[in-house]
Amino acid sequence: MFSQRCYDLGTARSVIRELFEYGKLRANEVGADKVFDFSIGNPSVPPPPAVEETLERLLTTVDPLTLHGYTSAQGDLAVREQLAASLSRRFGHPYEASRLYLTVGAAAALCCVFHALTLPGDEYIVFAPYFPEYKVFMEGAGAAVNILPPRYPDFQIDFAALDGAVNERTKAVLINSPNNPSGAVYTPETLTALGELLTQKSRKYGHPIYLISDEPYRELTYGAATPWVPDFYSNTIVCYSYSKSLSLPGERIGYVLVPPEAADADAVYAAVAGAGRTLGYVNAPSLFQRVAAQCDGLCADTSVYAKNRELLTDELGKLGYDTSHPPQGTFYYFLPTLEPDDVTFCEKAKALDLLLVPGSGFGAPGYARLSFCVPTARIEGAIPVFAALVKQYGRS
Ligand SMILES: Cc1ncc(COP(=O)(O)O)c(C=O)c1O
Repeated sequence: MFSQRCYDLGTARSVIRELFEYGKLRANEVGADKVFDFSIGNPSVPPPPAVEETLERLLTTVDPLTLHGYTSAQGDLAVREQLAASLSRRFGHPYEASRLYLTVGAAAALCCVFHALTLPGDEYIVFAPYFPEYKVFMEGAGAAVNILPPRYPDFQIDFAALDGAVNERTKAVLINSPNNPSGAVYTPETLTALGELLTQKSRKYGHPIYLISDEPYRELTYGAATPWVPDFYSNTIVCYSYSKSLSLPGERIGYVLVPPEAADADAVYAAVAGAGRTLGYVNAPSLFQRVAAQCDGLCADTSVYAKNRELLTDELGKLGYDTSHPPQGTFYYFLPTLEPDDVTFCEKAKALDLLLVPGSGFGAPGYARLSFCVPTARIEGAIPVFAALVKQYGRS
């Protein structure tokens, strides 16, 4: 016998992955230049030169047994000290190594936090549109998930819905800003109101309601910088990943930060470390712990993302698509579909070898997600296909 739940997860289709695999098959059939795959969020720019330089330096100056050996379960102490110093400098708080737990990307960071916090009967609140794996991670930790509908069209927070949803079982609210898939970046006003509401609800229910901030796109913005969430609410736990900022998704490196101001910070940190043990996530990759700490705060050259975003806004706008809310961050364009049924719209696009992900998979019907972390030529090539799609709706 085996776990039915795990079997179901292992065989359930992920729309994004399925589309990505389809794109590869289709490229073999008709040629890669005729398939316009915007399905997956894999960075399309190389890591910043500092990553290569750091790797080279580490490989030539550090004893290989140290470099490739086990580190402390929570991450090498010197690495955590360096990272804590970097975060302290960048965000103006005196963070210490003892607050940081190095993880295998943001996915592991989130899983550790959910496992660390969840008691039977606990509930997490998530705002749509949302990264679909959240549900898997939260339910895997034994929690219930309450997904609140999107606030169209700016994808900030619907506070009336949140006010009605928080209850005595709410353990935490999860936010993801800049957001995958909407590209929305929460404003200081949104975060201030969120902090106030959670403070008031924590008081009402007599226990801290945590705010979990999932921030793999923190540095990928096209205007104002991403606000530092712990500045707005003390019971914040930060989950971060270098997958997107340093273009290192395959190296699997990120961290959990439990700031000292958070309620029961020491115990929560210990529970995160315990969750890492239960999940077998101890000792994030040793070499990339060091690279991450030394390159923290840097970012790949994302000028191509900015260029692609502008191109999409201009060209799709000219064709009649609604581009009035371009993404403020990430490398995803969340485009209102030309009919309410986003799945049908994306099927019609797929028939033209234009691969877009339906918004309903992220809890936001009526939209399609377009990953623009692609060569600009792919976007240029796709414009006539977007035009052909518009024609099918009798608009041109
Ligand atoms: C919103 C969000 N959170 C978490 C993750 C997981 O990131 P990682 O690759 O660091 O595990 C992703 C990956 O795409 C994401 O988009």
